This record gives sequence, C-alpha cells and structure tokens, in this order.
Amino acid sequence: MNWRKLRTLALWALVLCVIPATRYYQIDVPLLRFLKGSHIDPLSLHLSGEFVESNLGTEQNSDGSVTVRMIAQQYLFIPHCILVPAGVPVHLRITSADAVHSLTFNGTDFAVKALPGTISEAQLRFPRAGDYKTVCREFCGAGHYAMRSELNVVPRGQFPALRGEERGNCAVQ
Ligand code: CUA
Repeated sequence: MNWRKLRTLALWALVLCVIPATRYYQIDVPLLRFLKGSHIDPLSLHLSGEFVESNLGTEQNSDGSVTVRMIAQQYLFIPHCILVPAGVPVHLRITSADAVHSLTFNGTDFAVKALPGTISEAQLRFPRAGDYKTVCREFCGAGHYAMRSELNVVPRGQFPALRGEERGNCAVQ
C-alpha cells in the first residue's frame, strides 16, 4: 500500500468519525432502544404507565438535574410548554402516540426522534435562560408544519422548588 492510498483511507476514517461526533443527538437512539427491548404500547400511553398525563412535564431530581417526560402525537407535543432550569442536566424521555416525530429546539443542535412503541432518551443542557420554539422536524402528516410548542429555560435560582408529585410546566412560572 502506498502513502497516497493510506492518506485517503485515513482521511475517510477521520470523516466517518467526525460525523457521529458532531451529530450525536441526531443518531437514531430509538433503534438502540428497540434492540434493547424497551417497548411501550402507543395506544395506552394516556391510560397507564410512565406517560400518563400527571407524569408529563418536568420533574426535579434530588441531584439537581431534571427529568422531562413528553408525548409526541399528531400534531402536538404534550405538554405544550415545558419549563426547565438553565445549566442543569435535562434527562428527556419521549415517546410517540402515532407516527414518527422529531423534537428539535430552535437555535440548538438537539434533535430527538420520537417513535411509537419505544421510549427515546436524550441528555440535554441549556446553558442560558431563554425561550425556545420546539419544532417537529420529521414529516408526520398533514399538520406537520404546525406541530410546534415551547420550551422556557429559566435561571436556575428562579426555577420553582417542586415538591413530590408536582410537575413543572409554564403555568408554574
Ligand atoms: Cu410531528 Cu412532524
């Protein structure tokens, strides 16, 4: 093998490494979930289990991080508006009640696919306070272009202290 071939090979290897490294949040995590077997019935999401209505939204963890649970369905994200503190790890758990959706936050690189039957997980962090439009970026039907909601990031000190069963949403603010 001559140097020219080796150099081309090394360049390709580098390019192939850089793509997943810079697009981490766009990698198809649900595929891994699917293989691991974390199944959830999309038809009974609202009736029982982790994604019942009272469980959706932001939950404060004892280590200072928060867990956000959401459902994507034609054509909205539930809850419609979420509230998270700035600068803390946000563990997102999302599933879909029907088609494949993709949750994105305008102005960030985060993109999380929501698939019926699996729970997608992502670790997010929003360093600064601000309002983000959350937009569906996977064509999911006639109302796809109107499928958007909101994420409000508030300074850590202004995030309300949530107790027990309380869930953070924009009304708490
Ligand atoms: Cu949901 Cu496009």
